Amino acid sequence: MCGIVGYIGNKDAYPILIKGLHRLEYRGYDSAGIALLDNNAELHVYKTRGKVINLEQFCKDKNINGTIGIAHTRWATHGEPSDINAHPHYSQSENLALIHNGIIENYLALKQMLELKGFKFISQTDTEVLVQFIEYIMNEEQCSLYEAVHQALSQVVGAYAIGVLEKGNPNTLVAARKGSPLIIGVGKDEYFLGSDASPIVEYTKDVIYLNDEEIVEIKRGAKEIVVKNLANIELKPKIQKIQMDLSEIEKGGFPHFMLKEIFEQPKSLIMCMNGRVQTELQDIMLSGIRENIEKFRKARRILITACGTSWHAALIGKYLIEYYCKLPVEVEVASEFRYRNPVIFEDDVMIAISQSGETADTLAAIELAKGKGAFIYGICNVVGSSLARVTHSGTYTHAGPEIGVASTKAFTTQVAVLTMITLLLGKELGTIEISLYKQLVKALFEITNKIEKIILKADEIKNMSKIFTYAHNFMYLGRGYNYPVALEGALKLKEISYIHAEGYPAAEMKHGPIALIDEEMPIVVIAPKFKMYDKIVSNIEELKARKGRIIAIVSEGDTTISNIADYVIEIPNTEECLTPLLTVIPLQLLSYYIATAKGRNVDQPRNLAKSVTVE
Ligand code: AGP
Ligand code: GLU
Repeated sequence: MCGIVGYIGNKDAYPILIKGLHRLEYRGYDSAGIALLDNNAELHVYKTRGKVINLEQFCKDKNINGTIGIAHTRWATHGEPSDINAHPHYSQSENLALIHNGIIENYLALKQMLELKGFKFISQTDTEVLVQFIEYIMNEEQCSLYEAVHQALSQVVGAYAIGVLEKGNPNTLVAARKGSPLIIGVGKDEYFLGSDASPIVEYTKDVIYLNDEEIVEIKRGAKEIVVKNLANIELKPKIQKIQMDLSEIEKGGFPHFMLKEIFEQPKSLIMCMNGRVQTELQDIMLSGIRENIEKFRKARRILITACGTSWHAALIGKYLIEYYCKLPVEVEVASEFRYRNPVIFEDDVMIAISQSGETADTLAAIELAKGKGAFIYGICNVVGSSLARVTHSGTYTHAGPEIGVASTKAFTTQVAVLTMITLLLGKELGTIEISLYKQLVKALFEITNKIEKIILKADEIKNMSKIFTYAHNFMYLGRGYNYPVALEGALKLKEISYIHAEGYPAAEMKHGPIALIDEEMPIVVIAPKFKMYDKIVSNIEELKARKGRIIAIVSEGDTTISNIADYVIEIPNTEECLTPLLTVIPLQLLSYYIATAKGRNVDQPRNLAKSVTVE
């Protein structure tokens, strides 16, 4: 939620900040703003509702000089998207400007206190309260900006990543984080701030990942930065290298990041399986699982927690682990789990899945289970993210940066990791026959070529999608491993096309949703040829009898469904447990092409943000 970028050094800050905002825009895009300290140490704030491009337009005739600045792209939590509510926020005297990602939960109490002291507020945001509070402390205590930020944050409840500038103080940038991500890029005589590495990677690969409750003072030209925690203990920050190429965060000739990410799934799966799926040995190497095999062996049960698309991957994980490892698995939506007072045992193993590694609810669910003594295993894409740091062990998906708000390659790599975990666990626990294990390892390795084949059908899917742009509702049906894929297909469609869509286990149709079927209703049925095939054929017959329009995803060479369905998309043959890796691809493409045909902004769909760092 929201993107933060900052710069202090000897270059012009404005172009760096604007470029950074464009790179971060996927995180939030209802308004954007920038604060610069010019060469006379005067503070200028420019902000406007809408996209970064509007901000650039707005700044055309403004003073954009300065070698220090902060900038923000917002996803509103408190107060509608508007010029006034956009960040940065000034303090009352306009001596301070602050950008913020997160929520200050006790903002109302602080606001009331400040109003009694004569502070006036012009926005509805929680963020303005924080900047005013910092100014209040500076005045009361006659202390430095850094000291005031420290004191203010000691009294704040909630989540934040912030950057602050002070008029007349062009050599200091103060930043802090708790619960929302913040990275510092360390260049030669220059420093950067970023919500993630994307605005930084062009300039330096050396970064410091701030931890929760750490506050940093960055001085111009200083060899080192000062980092303290809320307990006022000075810390030695560790500089790490980011593994990210600029090309990974650019569109590379595609009209949208989403399409690029759909097309690059064979590559991202190769990266994900590289060194892990060993074809010659027909074996899986996952150090996180091997090192902790006893935890899994002794596990009373596995809890898998996640949100959104990652939760759909988790559901596939349940089908996989229960079938092949004979371990009981419960899948929990993180936001429900964390507040339900769930029963958690010390010998539970929790698998937490998150592309970003910053989803607030997933992180809270982890803390809860960790507090009760459970062993936490993470599946995450973003290296160095909060999830990677709070889990006991885990596996990165290595999908490369996912910029499109609608998750695609993150999902397939999560499913691939869950499959690798399942196979390795099954082998180690002795629940999978070795010959079957080898057969599945080989089939997993071969999956990328099969995805390539489906991607070649993109034009065919594009043509078909045009027929369905009229629809106001869609239904997605699947069974077994492909029931979660039905949920995922429906989520993809609603996120980016704003067409209402529901995913259902195919046989549940008769228990209610079949009432919705008429000649207007497109129904996507995922029906590869496995043990439930005949049942799903009957489900399709039932839908046809009610005039539903069927788009079926079928196995290569299927003749039965081709005769009943209105449209069919074939997928290559594979093992049943691997079909989600194939069946989801046409559904991603279908959503993409329907949404673009309707003229939607698929990379930045309305009301959404890439990483949900607030609950
Ligand atoms: C997927 O298309 C979504 N935009 C969303 O549901 C996402 O999967 C969810 O917010 C979880 O994110 P995470 O994987 O980064 O934790
Ligand atoms: N809570 C702040 C606001 O509503 C920050 C939101 C964000 O993270 O973009 O302005």
